[in-house]
Amino acid sequence: MTNKAFISVENVSRVFTGENTVTAIQDVSFTMNKGEFLCIVGQSGCGKSTLLRIMAGIDPSHEGVVSINGEVVKKPDKTRGVVFQEARLLDWMNVCSNVGFPLQGMEKDAKKKLVEEYVTLVGLTDFKKSYPRELSGGMAQRVSIARALVNKPEVLFMDEPFGALDYMTKINMQNELLRIREKSRMTVIFVTHDIDEAVYLSDRILVMSKNPGRIKEIIDNPMPRPRDRNSEAFLNVRKQVYDCFFINNVMD
Ligand SMILES: Nc1ncnc2c1ncn2[C@@H]1O[C@H](COP(=O)(O)OP(=O)(O)O)[C@@H](O)[C@H]1O
Ligand SMILES: [Mg+2]
Repeated sequence: MTNKAFISVENVSRVFTGENTVTAIQDVSFTMNKGEFLCIVGQSGCGKSTLLRIMAGIDPSHEGVVSINGEVVKKPDKTRGVVFQEARLLDWMNVCSNVGFPLQGMEKDAKKKLVEEYVTLVGLTDFKKSYPRELSGGMAQRVSIARALVNKPEVLFMDEPFGALDYMTKINMQNELLRIREKSRMTVIFVTHDIDEAVYLSDRILVMSKNPGRIKEIIDNPMPRPRDRNSEAFLNVRKQVYDCFFINNVMD
């Protein structure tokens, strides 16, 4: 392959067959650089999760090719972490056991050290022995982020990870994510339907249209960080995304 991009998505389509045949995404192509933070936005049902799942290797039944670091993505891999909207923790395991779950087979002391490092990174040192039922939504989501990070993935996939959180918790989590990402230089693919969230977090914003899910536009977002959500520059990018959403009638 001549393409030198870190991630390349080439002519990816996904059709769900059943009682109704749904073309969830059609002919999606784009590339990403290493370390880039891409947000995918679009209204409900436009294929955001489908695209993320294909890129993460969770949905192999698609057309087209996704490659990461020169290798075709065909199944989940330790080098890719995934966080969903719900924390999906194991109820019967405490915070440390949940975070350490992907490290099965690792030597005990090394595992303990790594788990502690990531539990601390997401600010849950005081809740190491707590069970999921004892955690708030934001705390549970931190556990799932630590679990996704513990294998030190090169690429982190997040599907509306803060969608169920209250406003202040969401803002805190966004800042924590940027801090963690700054340290690790991970490449991040982050699905959201919250335009402000996309403008705050991303280096680029991929706007999708619906029926079938396609790329409507990819908007550059080179604003310096840390970003001020009330600055003129911020509002300008936000307006660009809104215009792309509504003026060109994405509500089709
Ligand atoms: N497993 C599935 N079986 C059938 N249809 C599906 C399945 N997953 C998604 N779809 C359909 O594909 C389209 C895109 O869904 P999805 O990727 O979940 O959208 P989004 O994440 O943007 O809300 C929707 O019409 C949805 O109903
Ligand atoms: Mg979705």
